[in-house]
Amino acid sequence: MSIDSTAWYWPVARRLARSGWMSRLPRVRDALGDHAPYLRYYSDEILAGPGPRLGAMGKLFQRPAAFDLSGAVPGHQVVPWERLGRDDVPAYPPAFGLPELRAAVSERLRRSHGRVWDPQAEILITGGASHALQLTVDSFLNPGDAAVLFDPSYLFFAYLLDLKRVRSRWVASRMEDGFLRFEWMALEQALKGAKLLFLNSPANPTGALLRPEDLERIAWLAQRHDLLILSDEVYDQMTYGATAVSPAAFAPARTLVVNSFSKSFALAAYRVGYVAAPAGLLKPLQLQIVGKSAPVCRVSQRAALLCLGLPDSALDPARAELRAKRDWLAGELDRAGWPAPAPHAGFYFWVPLPPGHPSALAFAETLLAREDTLVMPGTDFGPSGDRHLRVSFVAPWDLLRDGWARLLRFSRQEAARPA
Ligand SMILES: Cc1ncc(COP(=O)(O)O)c(C=O)c1O
Repeated sequence: MSIDSTAWYWPVARRLARSGWMSRLPRVRDALGDHAPYLRYYSDEILAGPGPRLGAMGKLFQRPAAFDLSGAVPGHQVVPWERLGRDDVPAYPPAFGLPELRAAVSERLRRSHGRVWDPQAEILITGGASHALQLTVDSFLNPGDAAVLFDPSYLFFAYLLDLKRVRSRWVASRMEDGFLRFEWMALEQALKGAKLLFLNSPANPTGALLRPEDLERIAWLAQRHDLLILSDEVYDQMTYGATAVSPAAFAPARTLVVNSFSKSFALAAYRVGYVAAPAGLLKPLQLQIVGKSAPVCRVSQRAALLCLGLPDSALDPARAELRAKRDWLAGELDRAGWPAPAPHAGFYFWVPLPPGHPSALAFAETLLAREDTLVMPGTDFGPSGDRHLRVSFVAPWDLLRDGWARLLRFSRQEAARPA
């Protein structure tokens, strides 16, 4: 169920849902089936949230595909597990993260960002970047506020905004030579009166990086319009010959840096990440961990600490392997006449839908049914998303090759079909 909470009919629709009347409408019963009678208990957040979109996407992931080109976590193993040992401490972990992990994060940021965040007051350990994003949105945004994001953007940003009934203001973007390009006028227009700007460099789904000079100008605009910046940097170490720069270099007082161990260290299953921000911005996130969330599992934090003890070169083999896969897939796409720019970072190609297909979701559904091959439809990545597929290159070589062959065969068969 999803009711547009900014529409004029929202108060009426909400009452209908609360009173149980809405559950009796044939369309609602068709959509919700046996769940319909429970609709009256749902909070406003759920009534207005992205439920149907998540449902449609969720169907693609109901069972594992034989050839999965939707993956978001590479397979490399760098954690020296033998050093983890047994954890005999029975107490809850410290609310804001193990002090030694926060100190190690601060040190890592000092080396990568050239800035010092105080481990005590300015660093918070979270359940992956997802948790950090959720805490940030809940800390600073109210229903009816506006937040700005580039089209396309990581789909979780818009889901969170929808759940919170915050208006998403999309700024169209494209990738040129590996860098994010957009119209400055459009960005400035979108920023007026908004509260938060999402940046994600390198980006999911395109891999595009923001140039330092653009970040400097964005920082100036954020200052002018008094906006906070959420900088999602989860792909910052997964670059191929490029260097990721953080907006914190230009707007430290208004930037929340979010990062994770899921991507660089392939630790997604352990759910650990962090936020680095000025103490006054971190405070509300800390309050939420104490009041309504939970500290991160101690074992996960200790695994993360082991990662930060590794030399920088520990990720070189993983990067080299991903780069080789990227180059291979770039060649294949090129040979197939599919104009998708090769990313300088991240794990994905953002591929335009072949002509004749009206929707990426429908394309992905049919591909899965016919070839047991899964790609991520771009549908929820922004207004332009449903005209794109996100094809990941993290799968092992054999699956990547076979998956690609199946994707290509499917799209050629479809192209040959009479209109
Ligand atoms: C841009 C971006 N941010 C955050 C996440 C979620 O990361 P985590 O596993 O740390 O929650 C992802 C995962 O795909 C991502 O692509």
